[in-house]
Amino acid sequence: MQQERRPIYRTPSSAPQPRKDSTTYKKMSRKEVWVALTALVTALLLIVFFESHHRGGHASPVVNKSPQQSQSTPTTPSFDKKQYSLTDPTSIWVIVNKKRPLSPKNYAPADLTATDLPQRVPGNETMQMRSITASALTQLFSGAKAAGFNLMIASGYRSFSYQTNLYNGYVASIGQAEADKTSARPGYSEHQSGFAVDLEATTRKCELDACFGDTPEGQWIAANAYKYGFIIRYPKDKIGVTGYDYEPWHVRYVGLPLAAEMHNQNTETLEEFFGVVGGAGYSS
Ligand code: DAL
Ligand code: ZN
Repeated sequence: MQQERRPIYRTPSSAPQPRKDSTTYKKMSRKEVWVALTALVTALLLIVFFESHHRGGHASPVVNKSPQQSQSTPTTPSFDKKQYSLTDPTSIWVIVNKKRPLSPKNYAPADLTATDLPQRVPGNETMQMRSITASALTQLFSGAKAAGFNLMIASGYRSFSYQTNLYNGYVASIGQAEADKTSARPGYSEHQSGFAVDLEATTRKCELDACFGDTPEGQWIAANAYKYGFIIRYPKDKIGVTGYDYEPWHVRYVGLPLAAEMHNQNTETLEEFFGVVGGAGYSS
């Protein structure tokens, strides 16, 4: 039996016949509805396809997103991590830790200099530092003073032989395991590079103690050192990375661009920033 072609919309026979003008709806057959729906679905599929294609399915894959496009930590795209050597002891980026001794181990900087800054042991060899460190530290002390804080050098450059005596003294008094958490073995100390300085308040409150981090002076240093090219080299709870307990008093000169970049990236340690090994165990 031939199926009747029924119109989709039926008007009651009693209803008035619609006028054939622009506002009049037209009765659609099943076939017309089918064709219209197919066209609509096809159009939608085409829109979806072109939209996704245009948005970068092929043009800019997620893995190729530039730092500006991604929502990750702001970084300087042009920051060149290979600008300076990480091994040359004269390099402002040299990384010294228990896996990375100074080379040679008895290295001594050629431009050690004294400063006019307040010193715990005035005139002592250990109050010296490399001249670039001295210039930056003088600026830092000025900044601290302007903020109302009076700082003092507790320890700057330490020679291989000085560090030998210092480390051996710690081992004798607290044992090697404890000594290794706070004192570097000779040839492994940043102080020997001339880029590291221990700071304290002229009041000597919390001198070389973790509580220095809670003093106004310690807090000022933590918040402002990067503006002068320094980092806090041994942050809290990073012994697994740096190999040393928290030392809020020990600042390391690395230069303004690196200190600012580490600050911007919220990366505290040289090991993490450059992806090099550190940690508690000695390499040899
Ligand atoms: N206190 C630091 C780790 C040093 O001895 O160099
Ligand atoms: Zn130190």
